[in-house]
This record gives sequence, structure tokens and C-alpha cells, in this order.
Amino acid sequence: MWDLAWREIAAIDAALADGVIDQQGWHDAMAGLLREPYLGAKTPWEQSGKSGTEQDWVRTRKVVVEALDRHGSFLDVGCANGYLMECVAIWAGEKGLDVQPHGVDIVPEFVELARGRLPGWTDRIHLGNALTWNPPQRYDFVRTGLEYVPANRRRDFVTRLLADVGDRLIIGPYTVDIGDEETEHELADWGFTLSGRVETPHEKPGGVRKLLWVDQS
Ligand SMILES: C[S@@+](CC[C@H](N)C(=O)[O-])C[C@H]1O[C@@H](n2cnc3c(N)ncnc32)[C@H](O)[C@@H]1O
Repeated sequence: MWDLAWREIAAIDAALADGVIDQQGWHDAMAGLLREPYLGAKTPWEQSGKSGTEQDWVRTRKVVVEALDRHGSFLDVGCANGYLMECVAIWAGEKGLDVQPHGVDIVPEFVELARGRLPGWTDRIHLGNALTWNPPQRYDFVRTGLEYVPANRRRDFVTRLLADVGDRLIIGPYTVDIGDEETEHELADWGFTLSGRVETPHEKPGGVRKLLWVDQS
């Protein structure tokens, strides 16, 4: 919740809990929060939801490649304008890894934007809700955020991404208060064992950024 419009998100969650909207309405409302700021942004990282400078983007997102330990395919679930796809290929290359990026996003305008920015990869950038989307292939690495689905669907989300989509599921980077291990505990309660984790300091005191990963067993 640190980086997002938490009041609006809380209202959308409450509307779902009260039966005012259904799950599709939840996804539509969440997409509605992102459409204008992303499409109106001037920098590629802001079109991916990260405010600040390019250095801020690198400092907060480069950690993703810590979870990559071999050559392979990488699916960014929630790829927005595709900027993380591009950067991950470069950052993995700096580690000597040949990583082929792919993406999927739930917002048609973001998929159009990503395909326009990355014309060589149009067939790798897909439109779909990752909770239900049928991937055209299996991927070695799949990155996502658990906040992309309602809280009561997160267990299904993790289960299906590992069963049907990819071999290593990378969650984050996401920000929590220092000491908050709720996501780790939820994953354990759902029967998943972490294969790796990285924590990086947050610029705001009291916060920490985390990246977790789980392998298909
Ligand atoms: C914060 S941006 C992430 C951009 C980039 N991948 C990164 O990590 O910096 C989140 C993206 O996830 C997409 N998204 C949210 N829920 C989704 C879902 N259920 N399936 C696919 N994409 C989703 C949003 O449309 C948005 O583009």
C-alpha cells in the first residue's frame, strides 16, 4: 500500500466485500485508477507506475534480476508499457544471462502502448487477466504482484501461476513496514516454500522493499 492510492484501493476492496461490485468490477475499478496516470506520464518508468527519477526506477526495480539464476524466458505479469521487460533483459545480460522477456497486462491501452514501444516483441505482449489468462507457453520466470487480484483470490493466483504459467514465481518488489511478514506467512499457510528473498532499504524510514520467489515443486 505504500506506493499506491491506498484510500481508493480500500474503498474498492470494501465495495467487493459488501457485494456492491463483483470481481470483474474490482479489476475494472483498479484499472481505472491506473489508466490516466500511466497514459499521461512522460517517462517510461512513470508509464509503469514508478514516480521519481530514472535512478529511483533502477534502485527499486533492478532487484528483480536477483531471482534470475539461469538463461530463460521471463514473463512480467502486469507489464504496463513494457519497460520492466526491456530493463530485465539488459540487467540480466549484465549478469551474463540471456533472458527473453514477455508480458501480459489487463488494460488494453497499456498493451497497445507496450506493443507500440516494443514493435519487435508484439507477439510476446499479451492482453489478459493473469488470474484467468491462458498463456501460449510456459515460462522459466514469472514476476507479479499479489495486489493484482482481490485478497480472497491470492492463493488461487499463486497456485495457478505456478501450475499453469511458470517454473519460478517472483513476487514484488513490494513495500511494507519493517518487520511485516504477512505475505511470507500467507505463502507458508497456503503450502508454498520460499526459494529466495531479498530485502532492500526503503527511502522512507520504517519501510522495506521485498522480493520473494517460490519454485514449482
Ligand atoms: C505497478 S504496474 C507494474 C509495472 C511493471 N511491471 C513494474 O513492475 O514496474 C502494475 C500493472 O499490472 C497490471 N495488472 C493489474 N492487475 C492485473 C491482472 N490481474 N492481470 C494482468 N495485469 C494486471 C496493471 O494494469 C498495471 O499495468
